[in-house]
Amino acid sequence: MTSDSSGLRAVILAAGLGTRMKSSTPKVLHEICGRPMLGYVIDAAREATGAKPLVVYSPATSAICDAFAAEADSALQQKPRGTGDALRAALAALPDSVAEIVVLSGDTPLVDSESVIALRDLRVSRDACVAIGSMVPDDPASYGRLIARDDGSVDRIVEEKDATAEEQAIDLVNGGLYAFDAQWLRTALPELTPSPVTGEVYLTQLVEIAARQGQAAVTWSRNQAEDAWGLAGVNDRVDLADAESAIQAAILERHMLSGVTLRDSMTTWIDATVEIEADVTIEPNVSLRGATRVGRETLIKSGSQVVDSRIGQGCTIWASVVEGCELGNRVKVGPVAHLRPGCVIGDDCEIGNFAEQKSTRFGARSKQHHFSYLGDAEVGEDVNIGAGTITANYDGHKKHRTVIGDRAFIGSDSILRAPVTVGEGAYTGAGSVVTRDVPPGKLAVGVPARIRERTAPPGKPEPGK
Ligand code: UD1
Ligand code: CA
Repeated sequence: MTSDSSGLRAVILAAGLGTRMKSSTPKVLHEICGRPMLGYVIDAAREATGAKPLVVYSPATSAICDAFAAEADSALQQKPRGTGDALRAALAALPDSVAEIVVLSGDTPLVDSESVIALRDLRVSRDACVAIGSMVPDDPASYGRLIARDDGSVDRIVEEKDATAEEQAIDLVNGGLYAFDAQWLRTALPELTPSPVTGEVYLTQLVEIAARQGQAAVTWSRNQAEDAWGLAGVNDRVDLADAESAIQAAILERHMLSGVTLRDSMTTWIDATVEIEADVTIEPNVSLRGATRVGRETLIKSGSQVVDSRIGQGCTIWASVVEGCELGNRVKVGPVAHLRPGCVIGDDCEIGNFAEQKSTRFGARSKQHHFSYLGDAEVGEDVNIGAGTITANYDGHKKHRTVIGDRAFIGSDSILRAPVTVGEGAYTGAGSVVTRDVPPGKLAVGVPARIRERTAPPGKPEPGK
């Protein structure tokens, strides 16, 4: 299925099994900084062509289609019989109006759109039927070698497994990025024959076919090849770690340049998907993951992990775990608090030490200090949750809700057995076990708690303090 019929389209090869990863997950769906590897290649392809790329997948990698349904079109390669066969599957899915094709490999996540454009321009300027993005890697062992001349014309690409010792000594390799004249490609693809060594149909054989026809196949200069480290391929988990370090370094640099202070960039981890406003400070040993957004002037102190959460402005998070939550402004969390998915925390709240919340709405200016658990709770504004307070939200079968009204004051060590409501301005006494609703303004004391009129004892702190 294809979305557009403009002249230039990108094809991304992603049908291979990636056996060297030793994984049940398709190679191109392995994550790099919180995003599947293929996502980076799709971005580069789209930026370079201005159109949705066409991704070639196979039955074993069909999870790709769900993961990128909105970002790419797809073409099925029935069996991963080699990169040449994958390109045949792509061509069959592209309309005839496509005049130029750039081909990227799904396992080169560091590729950038500038390289794709440069290669396409090189092909056009040299009037070649194919241009190959070459590179000079530290270790050429896992790449096809280019048999090229000084003027940049290429006679042949020989795969490592098929190469003679002399050919293996060549350090100029195929980076898996190509620009084609689509019309020529349509006529040349049927000519590919399986490798006598591996039985695979190699895309790289197209270079020989061009040479045989007296057509030009070209690559860029040696200097450009030495700079083209972005074409490094990921074949195993060592390559994956290398690519991830490079992308992580670029992410950290991008945030620092846009006004984020990293006290120790060596121990800070930020996923590609995270957004951070200026004047945020991040201390050592912090990780920010997934769809996290952090507002201006927030301080994230050592030992914190924030996952899929929106943090407001001027917050402090200290040695705590926050996942799937939304925090207002000037919220203080920790040290050592755990905010689990589904919490919405109002402005100026304080949570921690040793406090846990799950699926809880916590109104503005409310406080929960000292080893306490709130689960499935609806807490109003200016509420004080005393030390050791527990919402007993689970009866062994079902979860139940606890509702605590504005300005309520929950005494230390209270157990609120859900479902239960503590009314506005109500109090619970220290150590009470509240099994029935407490009307607004009343006091609940004892085990099980009985309701009393409230006589504000001298020195009792105001609610919310
Ligand atoms: C390939 C090139 C090699 C080049 C290297 C650059 C060939 C024959 N070799 O080798 O010259 O130096 O890339 O990174 O092209 N794929 C399919 N269908 C298949 C087989 C592979 O879609 O049937 C996809 C893979 O998912 C992958 C890409 O093509 O994204 C490259 O395949 P891979 O097996 O990694 O090829 P390499 O051995 O790295
Ligand atoms: Ca590869």
